[in-house]
Amino acid sequence: MTSHDRPLPRLVLLLSGAGSNLQAIIDAIEAGQLPARVVAVISNRADAPGLQRAARHGIPSQVISHRDHPDRASFDAALASAIDHYQPDWVLLAGFMRILTPQFVDHFRDRLLNIHPSLLPAYPGLDTHRRVLAAGEREHGATLHLVTEALDAGPTVLQGRFAVEADDDAATLAQKVHRLEHQIYPAALALLVSGQLRIDQGRLFYLDQPVPAEGLQWDQVL
Ligand code: GAR
Repeated sequence: MTSHDRPLPRLVLLLSGAGSNLQAIIDAIEAGQLPARVVAVISNRADAPGLQRAARHGIPSQVISHRDHPDRASFDAALASAIDHYQPDWVLLAGFMRILTPQFVDHFRDRLLNIHPSLLPAYPGLDTHRRVLAAGEREHGATLHLVTEALDAGPTVLQGRFAVEADDDAATLAQKVHRLEHQIYPAALALLVSGQLRIDQGRLFYLDQPVPAEGLQWDQVL
């Protein structure tokens, strides 16, 4: 079997908002930098602009609203079964603003990634740019990590950082973080697809060596 016959790895992407990370992944695929297929986009919000991006690229999408479910467990069960339908190799959280149950996380163990707008383990949770400024941090960045039961605390896959400038505000930081995210998400996926990066029972390996706890650093894998 040649690489031409091999089916492309299947990506399901979950989002709640703008979907600029979805766009970056689509762009990388269309530019031939990421041999994979986004087989579905699922949003918990019907008004997420990311859904229109999916439509523009002919990607099937689905809305599963948390409001239609009495509790987190039933929402997550509906979400998991919708995702399973697409038989993904990887499930990608890209601005998906829901906390997931341990059952959900366990179901997609080793296949579930999230992009977070801070240098994890610093600044898990929301409102990271404002908190980074308030603390007078000199650096900020973005982290792609494996999702585990602990919120924003799974093993770091890839991290990108930049210096916070004196004139930065929350909006400029958000822009800079987005720019980085749009590079590191597709790049990490390309490493996964090529097998250079592997996930095995919650542990990460890059070129067959364990990835250090702080993750791969973007300027080192460029
Ligand atoms: C991204 O900055 C992502 O890191 C963040 O939401 C944004 C989504 O942007 N995610 C979180 O805060 C998760 N806790 P996008 O919709 O344009 O891709």
